[in-house]
Amino acid sequence: MTDDSRPRVLTGIRPTGSLHLGHYGGALENWLKLQHEYNCFFLIADYQVSDYADQIDNVRNWVFEVAIDWLSVGLDPENSHFTIESLIPEHAELTTWLSWWVPLGRLQRNPTLKAEMDDIGESVPVAFFTYPVMQVANILMPRAHLVPVGEDQLPHIEMTREVARRMNRLFGNDEEIFPVPKGLVGRVPRLVGIDGPSSKMSKSKDNAIWLKDDAETVTKKVMGMYTDPTRLRATDPGHVENNPVFMYHDAFNPNEAEVADLKERYRAGKVGDVEVKQKLAGALNAMMEPWRERRAHFESHPEEVREALAAGTAYSRKIAQDTMDRVRSALKLNYLES
Ligand code: TRP
Repeated sequence: MTDDSRPRVLTGIRPTGSLHLGHYGGALENWLKLQHEYNCFFLIADYQVSDYADQIDNVRNWVFEVAIDWLSVGLDPENSHFTIESLIPEHAELTTWLSWWVPLGRLQRNPTLKAEMDDIGESVPVAFFTYPVMQVANILMPRAHLVPVGEDQLPHIEMTREVARRMNRLFGNDEEIFPVPKGLVGRVPRLVGIDGPSSKMSKSKDNAIWLKDDAETVTKKVMGMYTDPTRLRATDPGHVENNPVFMYHDAFNPNEAEVADLKERYRAGKVGDVEVKQKLAGALNAMMEPWRERRAHFESHPEEVREALAAGTAYSRKIAQDTMDRVRSALKLNYLES
């Protein structure tokens, strides 16, 4: 199977807990489509957990939670490679070499990294500061062509493109060591929390709809969603813009005619929040029902989850060793070979 000739995708997620609808609309939905046309590497990036030192005991569970979320939405480990990053030490090795060609200032100006470091506050671990370089290594390792991600990841992909070009120019001898990969952002680049139009989803605020939520939980969350605060009665004209309920309708309700009708009546004061929310809950639950069936299967067959991770990681490791052979010979590190 290592001779799969399809172009390659690498993308990843941090194992920091369960995934939510933002991950689905921003990334997973694309992964599902791409797994048929590309040789896909889906990485669980455990080197990137920002508070790893405090979370060591939890990361182990989260690795499996992420894998079950992937399986539930329909990623197919027969056709793609679920990969645990730290079980492939080549990622650490490539990161070390590539670091020589990433200027410090370039890293300090990375806007996504900057925002994350501001969130962490005073004491940013060195390992966290350098994670974008490891992310470059992650992408270059399987010599990926395409990186489907959320919008916030684009600065890292830009860095990857720069590093790939630089390495090819310096060491390629007219051959391409690494393809220069492209980013691909999902249909719903940014999904707000259920508690307001400028709210970021987070575990601690529990303001997200998780992929694993059951129908009752989804309905309850939707019925409690933040809507138009200026609207006191169903007969008041309402605002559709910046209204999370309609943002979710736009993102996930496939019935466009229904959404258009609800918007028109909402603006005219001819529909209550309850109906708009009930229809949203219905659309979300219809989308999520097949996920729930698959989840039930994998939750009662944990050995299949483990096997998916083991097989994908073993395959990825072979590819990684092949890439490192090429890198070592391009950088003339194969000192003892004659
Ligand atoms: N930084 C990504 C996130 O926060 C996870 C990630 C790690 C990743 N390595 C990657 C994404 C390589 C794309 C490509 O979710």
